[in-house]
Amino acid sequence: MTDADLGLIRPTSTRRPSGPPRPRHEHIADARRSFANVERELDAELDPSDGEVPRELHGTLLRNGPGGMALGSEGLQHPFDGDGMVVRFAFENGRVHYTNRFVQTAERLQEQRAERPLFRGFGSNLPGGILRNALRLRFKNTANTSLVVHAGKLLALWEGGVPHALDIHTLRTLGRHDFDGALRNRGASAAFAPELPFSAHPRLDHETGELWNFGTLMGLRPRLLIYGVSAAGALRVERDIVLPRLHFIHDFALTRHYFVFHVAPVAFQMWKALSGVVPPADAIRGEEAPGAFLLVPRDGGPPRRFATSPGFCFHLANAYEDSRGQIVVDAMRAARFPDLKALFDPNAAPDASAASRLTRYVIDPRTDAVLESTLAPSVAELPTIHPKLNGRRHRFVYGIASKLERPAPIYDSVMKVDCDNGSTRVCTFRDDIPSEPIFVPRPGSHEEDDGHLLTVVYRPRQHRSDLVLLDARALAPVATLPLPHHVPPLFHGIWTAR
Ligand SMILES: [Fe+2]
Repeated sequence: MTDADLGLIRPTSTRRPSGPPRPRHEHIADARRSFANVERELDAELDPSDGEVPRELHGTLLRNGPGGMALGSEGLQHPFDGDGMVVRFAFENGRVHYTNRFVQTAERLQEQRAERPLFRGFGSNLPGGILRNALRLRFKNTANTSLVVHAGKLLALWEGGVPHALDIHTLRTLGRHDFDGALRNRGASAAFAPELPFSAHPRLDHETGELWNFGTLMGLRPRLLIYGVSAAGALRVERDIVLPRLHFIHDFALTRHYFVFHVAPVAFQMWKALSGVVPPADAIRGEEAPGAFLLVPRDGGPPRRFATSPGFCFHLANAYEDSRGQIVVDAMRAARFPDLKALFDPNAAPDASAASRLTRYVIDPRTDAVLESTLAPSVAELPTIHPKLNGRRHRFVYGIASKLERPAPIYDSVMKVDCDNGSTRVCTFRDDIPSEPIFVPRPGSHEEDDGHLLTVVYRPRQHRSDLVLLDARALAPVATLPLPHHVPPLFHGIWTAR
């Protein structure tokens, strides 16, 4: 496949030293530099180095990701465990104001005072071997995965615990937000998990203003909790479902009648994590067995399972019900659950089976049949759509993509897939690494792809980052705004009109 086949566009704004293409291992090693500590919290006016910021862009891009990766001389073993750092780009009259602030979780404050790591992470053990990690089941709430604005609150999310509330204008941390105690764990597992998990991928019901989310509780009887948050911000546990076995569920989708989960079989070597031999992320392994969709009726009926091929979906782009009552789910599917450690390890062997591609599943609840097809050939992740189409029929899916047969963090392109005709456009940044593209609709337009895509691009050679605006229709650069320092390209962001 050639670049032309992919509709590949190279941004003129990528200022890349000339010279021969670099060996792939250099590219990967440089990508790891993106996880270096961000040392400063800044406020700055950004000036475009290329193009102009459209005056119609009025609102705020917020992104979250790991910004604090080392404390003293101790580096974390996995980017999953970096302290959450929120970046804010406020757009007004063609100007952009930049702010970055760490989420000041209780754990981060304790560690900063002690000047050393005090908590295990999902992917990182404490220094000191088994003696310091065995039976240590309280993990750091990193607040580093995503954000949501709902009921007048900005929340930083991490899937293993409760959200943290932030001031939407200053990003000052206001504290843990357990919805007035509704996320307090009152069950038998409270001893090691005093707070119920609130995933990093909530979904908004645009008709009711309710926010829906879930959490998975590990244990001998794993449970899937589904939460409803009213438009006024009150949380209730809507469903409490005992799972027949443990699954690693990171995302879900919401249709008119169903909560939609893709569940893939994983083996959790509990003793390894409990004994401190390895962090939990290294104790989870994918299994060669069929996966399934779990459809939980929103009206309270029993969950239904629909078998799929083996495979694992970290992220679901969207799901909706078509005119025939079938449930259409677009997801990034890999052939198997990835080795979470190898995902970010430059020395790990390339693993094509862990590379995900945009895949369409069509579930027929009358026949139990699930049709499965690959929508785009590119290795891709972090799918996004027009934000108003959540739960409704969409045509376009955006994401980050790579031609390399290997998952993150070496995605080098932003991708747009037309799900109606299968055509794919790719805007490549070559040696540079874009973040999840966030679609911002053009005010007043009803065309699904009429608007801009916002992405923060990490430039490994210069160890810095730019905010890049793309025209979403042509996937062509509109403006590039250099940031005063580097920003790691992980994980998720949102656009808010505020
Ligand atoms: Fe995610």
